Amino acid sequence: MESKTSWIEAEIARLKEQGLFTNIRTLESPQGAWLTVDGKRVLNFSSNNYLGLANDPRLIEAAKQAMDKYGVGPAAVRSIAGTMSLHLELERKLAAFKGVEATVTFQSGFNANLATLPALVGKDDVIFSDELNHASIIDGARLSRAEIVRFAHADPDDLRRQIANTQTSGRRLIVSDGVFSMDGDIAPLPELYKVAEEHNILLMVDDAHGEGVLGRGGRGIVDHFDLHGKVDIEIGTMSKAFGAVGGVVAGKQVIVDWLRQRGRPFLFSSAMTVPDVAACTAAVNILQSSTELVDKLWHNAELFKREMATLGFDIGHSQTPIVPVMLGDALLAQRFSRRLFEEGVFAMAIGYPTVPQGKARIRVMNSASHSPADLEQALAAFQTVGHELGVT
Ligand SMILES: Cc1ncc(COP(=O)(O)O)c(C=O)c1O
Repeated sequence: MESKTSWIEAEIARLKEQGLFTNIRTLESPQGAWLTVDGKRVLNFSSNNYLGLANDPRLIEAAKQAMDKYGVGPAAVRSIAGTMSLHLELERKLAAFKGVEATVTFQSGFNANLATLPALVGKDDVIFSDELNHASIIDGARLSRAEIVRFAHADPDDLRRQIANTQTSGRRLIVSDGVFSMDGDIAPLPELYKVAEEHNILLMVDDAHGEGVLGRGGRGIVDHFDLHGKVDIEIGTMSKAFGAVGGVVAGKQVIVDWLRQRGRPFLFSSAMTVPDVAACTAAVNILQSSTELVDKLWHNAELFKREMATLGFDIGHSQTPIVPVMLGDALLAQRFSRRLFEEGVFAMAIGYPTVPQGKARIRVMNSASHSPADLEQALAAFQTVGHELGVT
């Protein structure tokens, strides 16, 4: 009889044949400007540690102190066994930082989307979703059982057309990533807001890559566009710029109250752990008190982009610290990434199916943790490999 898992072995073999099997590198150091990866010291241009907070002593100290007081785990779902004052403090601080009525936290950004979409729309309703939205939005939309209507990427006119062509007597919701993580472009939120207002449709933005990056001192995309009070639901993550792990939904009190009643990852999964909550609270305190890290991130990103363009690289149309170094061919991108690694720079090749065929790239993630010397070294490595592989 055929083994029950032989189909999985066949699928894995096929992925390996196509060069699509993901080999995960082992990190033997904390996240920072430099990493020890598979035993080698390399400059880190791969992670979402935008502000360098993942190994910040202030976050570590806050996590330790909180563990001394509260232990490690929440040990239960908040709605069943009660919520720690620690979680409520983080939610209050996040609300004050972002200038919203209320926030509620989840175990991750992914869970925040899985909680929110099915709580707001159901099977007789419609979700209008940017065609390049993140997997967690797609999965949350599917879980909701609402009809999903995709609109062309960052195209409010197409959104208008899709709305006009979709008949429903149910509820409607527009959802978009805030920053698109493969190209670094920003959603046209003021235009999406206009469309949402014209049709009285709920508007939701997932600001995972904008939280701690965009807006005054990292207050996010809504602040960036000065749309306070106008976007109904803002999803965020504390797993990127905030340096720890966790998800957040920010908006009107009534929406947050509803998510505490109907968000399934809130009701059926344990809360964020104590050190995560304490570290996130410390991150909010840091951002609240100074724009220094956010300013440094943008300074580094602008410098890197300027120098890469001068070196002759095609760096796409990023409006954020995410820099796609466009190479086209997937095998070239993989070779480029391997050679960069040999030159001491860890920057990942991204190819199909994560990005369209023929649009393979190296995705460079800038960080406030990089020193001027780090940037210089990385640029020199790009120049060397670019010449060697005939890209520049
Ligand atoms: C747009 C978007 N939403 C959600 C997530 C998931 O966030 P987390 O890692 O906190 O689950 C990501 C992370 O890749 C993202 O880019």
